[in-house]
Amino acid sequence: MVSSESSLLELRGITKRFPGVVANDGVDFDLKRGEVHALLGENGAGKSTLMNVLYGLYQPDEGEIRVNGKPAEIRSPKDAIDLGIGMVHQHFMLIPVMTVAENIVLATEPTRGGVLLDYEAAVDRVEQIARTFKFAIDPRARVESIGVGQQQRVEILKALYRGADILILDEPTAVLTPQETKELFGILRSLTNEGMSVIFISHKLNEVLEIADRVTVLRRGKTIETLPREGATQAQLAKLMVGREVLLRVDKKPAEPGEPLLSVENLSVSDERGLEAVRGVSFEVRAGEIVGIAGVDGNGQSELIDAITGLTKIESGEMRVGTHDITRESARQRLDEGVGHIPQDRQRRGLVLDFSLAENLGLHDYRKEPNSRYGFLFPARLISWARRVLKAFDVRGGGPETLASALSGGNQQKVVIAREVERDPRVLIAGQPTRGLDVGAIEFVHRRLVEERDEGRAVLLVSLELEEILSLSDRILVIYEGRIVGEYGPDVSEEELGVAMTGGTREVAA
Ligand SMILES: Nc1ncnc2c1ncn2[C@@H]1O[C@H](COP(=O)(O)OP(=O)(O)OP(=O)(O)O)[C@@H](O)[C@H]1O
Ligand SMILES: [Mg+2]
Repeated sequence: MVSSESSLLELRGITKRFPGVVANDGVDFDLKRGEVHALLGENGAGKSTLMNVLYGLYQPDEGEIRVNGKPAEIRSPKDAIDLGIGMVHQHFMLIPVMTVAENIVLATEPTRGGVLLDYEAAVDRVEQIARTFKFAIDPRARVESIGVGQQQRVEILKALYRGADILILDEPTAVLTPQETKELFGILRSLTNEGMSVIFISHKLNEVLEIADRVTVLRRGKTIETLPREGATQAQLAKLMVGREVLLRVDKKPAEPGEPLLSVENLSVSDERGLEAVRGVSFEVRAGEIVGIAGVDGNGQSELIDAITGLTKIESGEMRVGTHDITRESARQRLDEGVGHIPQDRQRRGLVLDFSLAENLGLHDYRKEPNSRYGFLFPARLISWARRVLKAFDVRGGGPETLASALSGGNQQKVVIAREVERDPRVLIAGQPTRGLDVGAIEFVHRRLVEERDEGRAVLLVSLELEEILSLSDRILVIYEGRIVGEYGPDVSEEELGVAMTGGTREVAA
């Protein structure tokens, strides 16, 4: 047990209830100076809620928070900031047209008409903090022109600028590439070397074991255990989280592919800036197989998915579902033709957050026979159908009439997957299907995708997680700078894929 003297922060017996849910149920948690303390738990276990309580966004129903051994009243984020607590949310809150420096200092510096009075001084100070903690960032760059990884650094700098010595990071790596994650960990190490403390939330157990000094596991709102990183294993953490053994790798039999269900021929697509992002790509996905597209983020994957699902215009090429030409069809027509799509960005494209779960599940089909009967004439039937689907996909934290916005991040993702899979598509396009999911839910989704395959659907899996590509795919295509540069069987090594993904060839690598 940790005594209160050595703890910078202590949460004791925190309880937070929402209508029908006890999100935090007497949670204990403490943080020592200079440590990274990971918070682990299934989707809906109460991690974000606990951090929102600590940051003053929610008031706890019971419990006590102590900072530096003294009881603290945290009624708003301002109180939290005054106590040295900073939080980086998963959805950044930056102003795109302003520069990095402006975003960092705006809330605290004098301005006239929204313009900083002493811009150069601000730039200087931001540069100084960045140097201290070894951040690579250009204070004069506009936020809209920098990538997600850089934007996250701006959020961290913002907290440091306001004097945070406790930093809360809620799933910071969910939006990062592996390279950016490495860089973030470098930053976290220099922060803790300077005596700062970090609360780190992630579903990726390998990351937790790499960066955390201690790990606390929550399950269904309760603290299960706090343990040191030394000696902890992925399998043990998974079991603590879920309460049972979890298969970290999927069991599946070899594919028995049938006729091609998705054919893409010579496809070229431009990105938002008019640059060629997909360059003459051709491939097929047959009934009963999972084809994985492996690649480093930004090599044309998003544009490829958007082209196949009809969300963007193409430059040239052809696409077919079965023998049916979909090249010139709308997104809606492709849906009706049997193309299901689990989008990479669930908040923007997956769900309507202020619709109920039943409405979200019925989103594609409410207008169509026979489902229109459910939509307006028989809402009770829509609701009982939705209840069954939510149960089948183990969506926790709400029923058919709950608003999507009240679900935890991972449970929102399960709703999207449920909707797309329940439509029985012939072709299922899965973009990062397990981003933000806990290990138990990943196991479930992976098993579902294999079942879909075994029922004769064609599954196209696009993922940045090599582990996911390797454990699910029957065939792997590597995309690099908009081209398919290699095709591999399921037994290819991670190293070989890694070389191809960064533009090397087998000849060069050997
Ligand atoms: N604003 C809210 N209104 C109602 N219920 C909520 C609200 N926020 C969270 N909940 C519920 O509280 C529980 C805990 O949610 P929380 O977001 O803390 O989970 P989490 O551990 O962060 O999960 P994830 O890994 O999926 O992000 C869930 O059952 C969720 O549905
Ligand atoms: Mg969360």
